[in-house]
Amino acid sequence: MIKAVRGTRDLLPPETALWNFVESAVRDVFRAYNFQEIRTPIFESTELFARGVGEETDIVSKEMYTWEDRGRSGARGPDSLLEERREELETWAQDLPVQPLLRGQERPRPLVPRPPSRAQSLTLRPEATAGIVRAYIEHKLGDRGLNKLYCMGPMFRRERPQKGRYRQFYQIDAEIIGPASAGSESPARDAEVLEMLATLLDRLGIVGWNLELNSVGCPRDRAAFNEALRKALEPVVDKMCVDCRRRAVTNPLRVFDCKVPEDQPIIETLPRISQFLDEGCRKHFEAVKEILRAVGVGFRENDRLVRGLDYYTRTAFEFTHGALGAQNAILGGGRYDGLSEALGGPPAPGIGFAIGEDRLVMSLEDTAESVLKKPDVYVAPLGVGMNAEAARLARQLRRQNLIVDLGDESFRLKKSFEAASKAGAKYILIVGENEAKASAFALKNLVTGEQVSVPRAELAEKIRGLGQSR
Ligand code: HAM
Repeated sequence: MIKAVRGTRDLLPPETALWNFVESAVRDVFRAYNFQEIRTPIFESTELFARGVGEETDIVSKEMYTWEDRGRSGARGPDSLLEERREELETWAQDLPVQPLLRGQERPRPLVPRPPSRAQSLTLRPEATAGIVRAYIEHKLGDRGLNKLYCMGPMFRRERPQKGRYRQFYQIDAEIIGPASAGSESPARDAEVLEMLATLLDRLGIVGWNLELNSVGCPRDRAAFNEALRKALEPVVDKMCVDCRRRAVTNPLRVFDCKVPEDQPIIETLPRISQFLDEGCRKHFEAVKEILRAVGVGFRENDRLVRGLDYYTRTAFEFTHGALGAQNAILGGGRYDGLSEALGGPPAPGIGFAIGEDRLVMSLEDTAESVLKKPDVYVAPLGVGMNAEAARLARQLRRQNLIVDLGDESFRLKKSFEAASKAGAKYILIVGENEAKASAFALKNLVTGEQVSVPRAELAEKIRGLGQSR
C-alpha cells in the first residue's frame, strides 16, 4: 500500500468542517480589519528564503525542500538531455516567421544561438512572509500606500514530525506593509494586529491563550547584544549542546531557541535584549504596550522570546496555548522593518504573523460537534422507479438552502433509515409511488419519532422547523 509521506497527512471529513469553520471565521475577522487576500506561489527561488529568513536559521540551514530545477543542471541522463534539446528546437521554431513552409525540412539554426539554460535552485516555501514581501517589491505595492494582506495555505519544513509538527503544515498569514509615510512603522499597527488576533481567538471560542511579547530591537541593538552574548557564552559554551556551540559562533541570538533542558540554567544567566534597546525601540515598545492595555488585551513580557527567523526587528510575539503540549505556539509574528531592503526593495516597514492552522484546529477539537453541519433531511426513494422523483425533491429542497442527503431506490426502508441515522440527518423523507401521486410525503423527525404527511410545497418550511404541526 502506498501511504502518505512521513510528516504529511490527509485531512478527512468530518475534521475538514472544522478547517472550513476556522477559515471562514478568519476571513470574517480579517474583513472587519480591512485585510485583503494575496496568493503567492508555493515555490520560490531558494535565494529569497536564504536572504529573507536568514541562512543561519534552522529553517534555511536544515529544513527546506530545495531542488535544482528539473533538466537544467547537474548529472543528467541521455533522455532528459534529448528532451531539453527538443524543447529548445520547438522554441526556435515558434520564433520563425516562415514556420509553415519549413515543415518536413531541416530547421535552420538561429542566427543568435540562445545561451544554454542555467540551473535554478528552487524551494518549497517554508513560510509566507518572504514571498509576500517579494510580491510587494515586484508589483510596486508600496505605490498603493499601506497594504494589509493575508494568505492561507501549505508550508513545508523538514522537521522531525511529532504532535502538532508536520512537514507539510498550513499557515494563515497576515502582513501590514508599506512606506513609512503611510504609517507602517507606527506602534498603532503592532497593537492593531495583536488586538485582531485576540479578537479572532475569542471569536473561535479558544480559551486559555497567552500572548508572549518582546522587542528584539533594531540591527544596531542586536549587534551590541550579539557581542555581549558572545562574550557571556565563551566560558560556558563547552557545557552546552552541539547546536548551541555552533550558534555561539555563527548567530548567538539563536541560543535562546534551545529546548535542551540541561542548557536552560546556563541560558537563564545570559544577558537579555531588553538591556540593549535604544531609545527609539524602547519608546516604540512602550507605545505598543500602552495601546494593548487601553484595548484590554492581556500579554506577558518575555525577553527570552527571539523567534526563529532573522528578519525580525522591534516587536516580536507568540500566542501559546496550554493544551497543545510541547509544540504550544499557535502562532508567531513580529515586525520586519528591514526585510524589503534586504531583498533589494525600497524601505517598507512591516509587521505580521502566521497562525499554525493545524495547531489552531487541534485546540478547537472539543468544539467539533457544534461546528459540524449534519443533513437537515435524508430523502429516501422507496421502490423501483422512484429515484427520479426523489432527485426532483432533493433539488427543490437544496435550492431552498437545506442540506440534503439522497438515498437510492434499491434500498429497503430499513436500510434507508440506517443510512439516514448514520448521516446524522434530522428528518427522513419517504418518496414512494403513492406519496408522489398525492404530492404529499411522509416526513419523520428522527429525533422525536414524530411522523406527518406534508404537501410538496410546504416541505422546506416544515423541515426548517417553522411549519405548523411541530
Ligand atoms: P513561525 O513562528 O516560523 O513564523 O511559524 C508560525 C506558526 O506556524 C508557528 O507558531 C506554528 O503554529 C506554525 N508552524 C511552524 N512550523 C510548523 C510545523 N512544522 N508544523 C505545524 N505548524 C508549524 C513564521 O512562519 C513567520 N513567517 C510569521 C510572520 C509573519 N512573521 C511576520 N509575518
